[in-house]
Amino acid sequence: MNKNNVKEYNDNRGHIGLEYGRDAQLYFMGHKIASLAQSFGTPLYVYSADLIRSSLASLKTALGDRPHLICYSVKANSNLSIIKLMRELGCGADIVSGGELYRCLQSRLSADGIVFSGVGKSGLEIKEALEAGILLFSVESEAELMLISQIADGLGTRAKVSLRVNPSVEADTHPYISTGREHDKFGISHTKIIDLFKKASHWKGIQICGLACHIGSQILDVSAFGNASKVLASIGMQLERLGFLWEYLSLGGGLGIDYGDGKEPSVNDYVRSILNEVPLKSTKIILEPGRFLLGNAGILISQVILQKSNGGKKFYVVDAGMNDLLRPALYKSKHKILSHCILSESQRQNTSPADLVGPVCESGDFFAQNYHLPRLNAGDYVVICSTGAYGFSMSSNYNSRCRGAELLIDGNFSYLIRRREKYEDLVRLELEYSEER
Ligand code: LLP
Repeated sequence: MNKNNVKEYNDNRGHIGLEYGRDAQLYFMGHKIASLAQSFGTPLYVYSADLIRSSLASLKTALGDRPHLICYSVKANSNLSIIKLMRELGCGADIVSGGELYRCLQSRLSADGIVFSGVGKSGLEIKEALEAGILLFSVESEAELMLISQIADGLGTRAKVSLRVNPSVEADTHPYISTGREHDKFGISHTKIIDLFKKASHWKGIQICGLACHIGSQILDVSAFGNASKVLASIGMQLERLGFLWEYLSLGGGLGIDYGDGKEPSVNDYVRSILNEVPLKSTKIILEPGRFLLGNAGILISQVILQKSNGGKKFYVVDAGMNDLLRPALYKSKHKILSHCILSESQRQNTSPADLVGPVCESGDFFAQNYHLPRLNAGDYVVICSTGAYGFSMSSNYNSRCRGAELLIDGNFSYLIRRREKYEDLVRLELEYSEER
């Protein structure tokens, strides 16, 4: 085994919101991990309202008095209570489906703060969004623009739309979550926007009043946002000469977070890189953060089931699987792993490379590979850090596994915001075929 590939385990320093107490136990925002696990069972997602609030506050401070709207990207974590918290904090929402619209309305988030993105909105979804009275459609193709115009006209209304530009910029991130390159499926090529505006600006069912883009996710080098902003600003200026009333400019989401390696862009640099390029002070800036607000505000607690070795390699099998947290399997993403209690000096010396894996029947079911883990015992808890975004929202029942609960902690309080699934939940929607024809 190449020693250089072995990552250091558990420096006893914790991670954002996670600290070891004097009693050598790990705490998340003042709540003892072992107690949470014992009260609510594992696997267990836990989110902190305070950490969400402080990330949002830092973004709003950076935006200062510039007119803006923060549209929380619901796909990052779509639990009704999380959307409700966002509503209470004054956010709108970025949605990509009728289901997300439904969730927002259920959470009483006002439709006039909702932006609808996505390359394949169905006619029904467009109709539902128009009837709800959303703020803006972020339109990704000429065909979609035409469809929205027809549907809105048929309903006797006019849809406000922004054109989502594909600015053809590179963002240094995983290819699966890079969305602003020339050959990605997203947006309308920056070379075609002017012609499309000339063609469509008089269509009856639409009012083109914004430009948008989203160049990818987990972006650490903020210059990519500046590059995209520059492309949009230049298009916006040209469109203004054609009568475009530039009300909204959305730069999407994408701001990266610290997954435990200390790499984290500054929020101020991020906002500055965008605003520096936008000439009009009256244009309302829309940002659609998901990961930035939720990623480090959430953790996944899991319990060690057993330890085994194969071919000289050590595995710790835990009770969470790739069905609970898909990111490592899908993107080979790295999440910091912490044990529920502090390690003694001798335990820390006594570490060996091991994989932390789930029980799912796939070799891709891992949370950490070749990780320098200490001796863990069956029954110990581990915390998989930075899992508040794209954790539960990407989970499934694969292998007919019941998903664990979700918990929101706020100061001393903890709220169960999704109960643990039962076997009945797995088959609730299934119907038995009948041999009688
Ligand atoms: N706006 C639009 C139009 C988007 O497509 C996305 C994310 C966002 C905003 C929010 O981006 P964020 O601020 O969270 O980076 N499942 C992947 C991430 C997929 C992101 C898809 N679009 C992951 O786990 O890394």
